[in-house]
Parts: sequence; C-alpha cells; structure tokens
Amino acid sequence: MEENSTLVETLPSVRGFISRRHKMLIDGKMVDAASGKTFASYNPATGEVLAQVPEGDKEDIDRAVSAARRAFEGSWRKFTPSQRGQLLWKISELIERHADEFAQIESLDNGKPVAVARVADVPLAADLFRYMAGWATKIEGNTIPLSIPGGGYFAYTLREPVGVAGQIIPWNFPLLMAAWKLGPALAVGCTVVLKVAEQTPLSALRLAELIQEAGFPAGVVNVVTGFGETAGAALAAHPAVDKIAFTGSTEVGKLIVQAAAGNLKKVSLELGGKSPNVVFKDADLETAIPGAANAIFFNHGQCCCAGSRLYVEKDVFDQVVQGVAEQGKQIKLGPGMDLSTQMGPLVSTEQLDRVCGYLQSGRQEGAKAVIGGGRVGDRGYFVAPTVLTDVKPDMKVYQEEIFGPVVAAIPFSDPNEVEAAANQTIYGLAAGVWTRDIGKAHSMAEKLRAGTVWINCYNVFDAALPFGGYKQSGWGREMGHEVLENYTETKSVCVRIR
Ligand code: NAI
Ligand code: MG
Repeated sequence: MEENSTLVETLPSVRGFISRRHKMLIDGKMVDAASGKTFASYNPATGEVLAQVPEGDKEDIDRAVSAARRAFEGSWRKFTPSQRGQLLWKISELIERHADEFAQIESLDNGKPVAVARVADVPLAADLFRYMAGWATKIEGNTIPLSIPGGGYFAYTLREPVGVAGQIIPWNFPLLMAAWKLGPALAVGCTVVLKVAEQTPLSALRLAELIQEAGFPAGVVNVVTGFGETAGAALAAHPAVDKIAFTGSTEVGKLIVQAAAGNLKKVSLELGGKSPNVVFKDADLETAIPGAANAIFFNHGQCCCAGSRLYVEKDVFDQVVQGVAEQGKQIKLGPGMDLSTQMGPLVSTEQLDRVCGYLQSGRQEGAKAVIGGGRVGDRGYFVAPTVLTDVKPDMKVYQEEIFGPVVAAIPFSDPNEVEAAANQTIYGLAAGVWTRDIGKAHSMAEKLRAGTVWINCYNVFDAALPFGGYKQSGWGREMGHEVLENYTETKSVCVRIR
C-alpha cells in the first residue's frame, strides 16, 4: 500500500468542491441545517476528515417536505411529461460532463477505486436518468371493457404520481443509489426529499448542484444530509410524505415499515442479502472462478447482492476454492485514488469492526480462512479478501450478511438438492448459477427464491432490468418499468355514457 506512482492527481474542481462549506438543497436553495450543526465525512483510506456537511434533522426534513408538497401541488404539475423527460436527460448529460469529478468524489468519500467508479457507478447513474427520461412520456393507463349488463359505461385508468416521495439511501454506491431513487420518482411526476447516507454525503450534494443547473423548479428535489436516527426517522414517519423508498439494512427496513404505519404511506424496500452462488462441476471453470471472485469481491463485498455463499459441487470444490483464493490473493489493496488499486478500504470504522467481528466469530465457530481473515495495516479501513471453508449452516458467517470481502465456500454432492440449501436463508435478493447444461440452468433459475438470478455471470446491472428482493430482502423492485409502480397510483375512472 506504500507505492504511490500511480496516484491520481485530485482535480482542481474536486479539491474546490470538497473544501467548500457544504450546504444541502431545500426548496431550491443551498442551505445550512436549521440548527447550524455540521458533521464530518471521512476519507476511509486514511481515516482523516474529508469534509463537514450540514447535520439536517427533523426541522430540516419538515422544511424539505413542505417545499416538496408545494412543488407537487404547484410548479411541478405544470411540467408536461416531455418537459420532465428533458430535465432527466439533462441530468444524465451533466453527470457525464462531470464524470471524472464524480468518480473522484466517490472514491475519496466512499473508498472505492476511482477507476471502478469511473466505469461503473458514474456511467450507470447517467444511464439510469437517461432510461427514466424515456419513461416520462409513457406513463399510460388502460381502457377497461366492463361487463355490466346493458352496457352504457366507458371506463379507463389513469396513472398518477403518488405525491411527495421520501427516499433514504446507503453509502455503498452513493451516486448510483441517488439515481435509482430520483430517476423514477421524477419521471412519473413526484417530488422528492432524499436523505443521503451520513458516511458518503458528497456526491449527492454535487448532484444537487447539477439538478439546480438543469433547471428543476424549487422544491421538486430536496437533498438532506444527516443521520438515520434523526433525519431518516423523521422522513419515514412524516405525515405529509406519501411514499417512502429505502435501501439499507433489513433491521432498519423494519423500522421504516413501523414508522410508515402512522399515515400508511406506501413503502418500497431494498434490503440485505446472503446470496448463493452455485458452481456445478460441468461449468466452464475458467469463467466461473473469476466470476465467483468478482461476485464477492466487487465493491469490497459491500453489495446487497454479493455472492457470499459459494456452493461448489464436490468434485471441483478444491479446484474452485483454490482458484477463487488465488484471485483474492492477487487483488491489490490500496487507496481508491491509486489507479493500480483493485480494492479500496471499507467505508467506515463501524463497517471495519463489523466485518472483523464476523471474521472472529467464524474463527471461533471453526471456520477456516484459506486466504485473508482480518484487517490489513493500521491506517484506513482495509480488510483482506477472505475465503472461508469448513462453514456450517448454524454459523453466523453462513447465515448473516457480512457486507465485506468474505465468502463462505460450501461443497455439495447432490445437484438436485443444492437449491434447498441455497434457499435456506431469510433473504432472497440475488443468486448465481454456473453450468454448461441449459436445462439445469433454467431449472435452477425457476427454483431459486431470489429477485435476480445470474447464469454464467454475476453483478450485471442495467437500468432496464428490475432489481429487488424476495423474502426479507425487500418489497418492490428498482429499475426497469417495474419501479414506476412504486411511484404511481392507479385511478379508475368510470363514465356513464347512456
Ligand atoms: P443502515 O440501514 O443503518 O443505513 C442505511 C440508510 O438508512 C442510511 O441513510 C441511514 O442514515 C438510514 N437510517 C439508519 N437508521 C435509520 C432510521 N432509524 N430511520 C430512517 N433511516 C435510517 O445501514 P448501515 O448501518 O450503514 O450498515 C449496516 C449494515 O446494513 C451493513 O453491514 C449491511 O449489512 C447492511 N447494508 C445494506 C445495504 C444494501 O444495499 N442493502 C446498504 C448499506 C448497508
Ligand atoms: Mg466518507
């Protein structure tokens, strides 16, 4: 981690942005928290303070919700679908224009390699807005033939925006999660209060400036920085919020549901996972092995869909485990702003402690680390890519989401029974299957209780492809046209015509 010849020079615009006195976006203005308080965002590669941002809380959420309500009932209504689409398209162009800047901000605030942010997070965010721009003009109802004796009625449905949407996002893909949330809500005509993660507030604040530049009316998009227990909880419970969309832990997802009960606001949730990745002996191991490594090590394992339970058919178990271990060993850890870095630090000291806690519990319960197994260095929040074997179903490392670069490798002998083990989890977000047998592949796709099944690939995302969870991995879907359901109400109109 010492060598720094490939260190990227921080762009002057990024340096300028980060060192600025940060404000949040409420009612079309960049403002301080009502309390005047701020909190720090850290650079996870060093543990040093990166920036101070406003500590928004209940009062700021109240102001933001009022502004969003006024915009929903006023200025935003006057925008035609085409005009909404054009604004969304404009955001995608602005993100692309500032792509290098966003990649650096994301790397500095979150820890991820700048090169990865530049080819994944940033273009995916731009593309999501572009995809949703197209939907703005296609939110259609139906005409419905009624079976009332004698007839004489004409019936149709309208699809209307649900109203003010509260949105709460995590820190693992800060800009992309903001895009996944804002894009569909704005496409259908909702107004938004977005509460960003306290660990990674900066890219959304830069996006807020571009939203202003794009020309959205005041109050349509409000971006509040603050903590979950204060700002987030106030948003989830707010009586004037019509819909809450949340991405984060299953534990907090349950709190969101309770908070939403007060006014029965609509709820969509994208929560945790413990996704199975199944390698059959007839798979092309040359792609399955790097595929399985990517499934867990991408974004340092900080993915809700991480392939964290690796089931491998007995005959090839040793070969696959060795192969994944070899891949893990070769991953170069370092600061995200180093172009040679393949894996950066975890996002925070809390996540470092959490992941190391799981590694310790795995050790105590008898799991064996083929590679990795702990923290790397004492500066920054680095954890070594880890492959665990001898993992038993009653262990915490088998059952619970670790959210770090830690995979549990488990052998199976009966290919007809592996789906039972794979489905033995409270989660159901994603799954992977590696085989050359097309029948087996589709049969597994049918049997796995997960919102996404990747066959001979993993971590493939597209704005058009719905993403979300079965079981305790969530409610509703993000992306695709399915997400539009989260933000619309259907109105049935029935007209007597004779
Ligand atoms: P978290 O669920 O606490 O945080 C996610 C978001 O929810 C943040 O914006 C936070 O401020 C907000 N929040 C927290 N408490 C809240 C409350 N009571 N009311 C309203 N909003 C609240 O997740 P955290 O603590 O950052 O990470 C803990 C674990 O959660 C991770 O180890 C991982 O297992 C899981 N996680 C899952 C994610 C996913 O993509 N599904 C993303 C982040 C974390
Ligand atoms: Mg940070």
